[in-house]
Amino acid sequence: MKNIAIVGAGYVGLVTGTAFAHIGNRVTCIDIDADKIKLLSEGISPIFEPGLEEMLKENLSKGKLSFTTSMKEGVESAEIIFLTVGTPPMSDGSADLSFIFNAASEVGKHLARDSIVVTKSTVPVGTNERIKEILEDHKSKNIRIDVVSNPEFLREGSAIHDTFHGDRIVIGSENPRAAHVIEELYSPFQIPIMKTDTRSAELIKYASNAFLATKISFINEMAILCEKLGANIDEVSSGMGMDQRIGNQFLQAGAGYGGSCFPKDTRALIRIAENVNHHIPLLEFVININNRQQEYLVKKALERFGSLKGKSAAILGLSFKPNTDDVRESPAIKICQSLIEQGAYVTAFDPIAMEKAKAYLPKETKYACSIEECLQDADLAFIVTDWNVFKEMTAETFIKCMKHPIVFDGRNCFSLEAMRQYEVDYYSIGRPILQNWSTKNGK
Ligand code: UDX
Repeated sequence: MKNIAIVGAGYVGLVTGTAFAHIGNRVTCIDIDADKIKLLSEGISPIFEPGLEEMLKENLSKGKLSFTTSMKEGVESAEIIFLTVGTPPMSDGSADLSFIFNAASEVGKHLARDSIVVTKSTVPVGTNERIKEILEDHKSKNIRIDVVSNPEFLREGSAIHDTFHGDRIVIGSENPRAAHVIEELYSPFQIPIMKTDTRSAELIKYASNAFLATKISFINEMAILCEKLGANIDEVSSGMGMDQRIGNQFLQAGAGYGGSCFPKDTRALIRIAENVNHHIPLLEFVININNRQQEYLVKKALERFGSLKGKSAAILGLSFKPNTDDVRESPAIKICQSLIEQGAYVTAFDPIAMEKAKAYLPKETKYACSIEECLQDADLAFIVTDWNVFKEMTAETFIKCMKHPIVFDGRNCFSLEAMRQYEVDYYSIGRPILQNWSTKNGK
């Protein structure tokens, strides 16, 4: 059992801290947000993440997990301190390191024994060297501090699963002893561990996210080509994915990627490269394709209707992906903004993310309490997030509720075979258009 402090009770910190407590360690999570700490101390998770709240409650009640706003209280007794604060983008795309440098100086002041400080936040190459300097500058006792880079690869919506069943754990350090301690800490998870130097570990995180974003933009480009050539992206993607060198994951065409990582990390990697006079046009294309893709459904709707002025549009799904309430960089934001700019009336529904979405969506957006209420009398509907509740719908619901059953599906939630049975006009991504409703009704 180790005494662990986690600095920053956001997504990564909370999941990591809870998981380490669950495998038998004594964990204290520290955050400056007193309201958040109060909620967490009562066993309430401020984020929606399947399985997290149950695990949080269990380990709180066992006394394995605690929460505090006091850096002194959290850090003093810890042997291993994880830095899991945010590194949000600045206006030029580069990572804002003020939170992590501030956390490092506060941690340094309160360290009371030989310690290992582990950076889990996504940080540009070279940052851990600076963190080590800050810790040394602020320490008040004659203690040894080692720094380890340990980037996080968990996905929102499956964060607990990913923590226990990830593909790899990357441990970057110039100190083999410190790397070994962190390796031992992770050993109960039985996940392959890769030990490397600090700079390579830092880059592995950015390179992985940039590569996955590239895969998505590539398949989205192929989807548009499929539409022009009369092919079907689902078939193309399946056929490509059967080649083990390509792999079948992250080949789902759609309304573009969002979230707190891919948009931020691709832009940050461009800046990291520029700082050493290297230009990566590939990533600029990846980002531009994604921007276009996020607006693609509205473009299709405009082509279909000519003008969207006065039309009632239903938006199904606001979070950037299912099983999360996170709407950061979600395509739904651009879609709602653009529809409202075109003069459409927008009503949105999301099973979980509606409260959080209100801060991001235009004030004109209306919110519905159910799928049916959202679709009621709508002229057109957009599916933006592939929540199971949408995938499990039948096209009957569009026919029953909407004024005109015209559906723009940004996640290819339904098979063309199924949709062919219904009098619905169905536009999806990278697949032939179905116009059963307009053909039958002479529209
Ligand atoms: C990502 C990385 O997967 C994770 O390893 C890293 O730690 C953080 O960033 P996350 O942002 O939670 O995780 O979500 P992810 O499941 O990767 O999806 C990102 C976006 O890509 C979503 O908007 C999703 O809808 C989209 N996506 C994903 C596609 O459009 N097509 C795909 O095939 C896969």
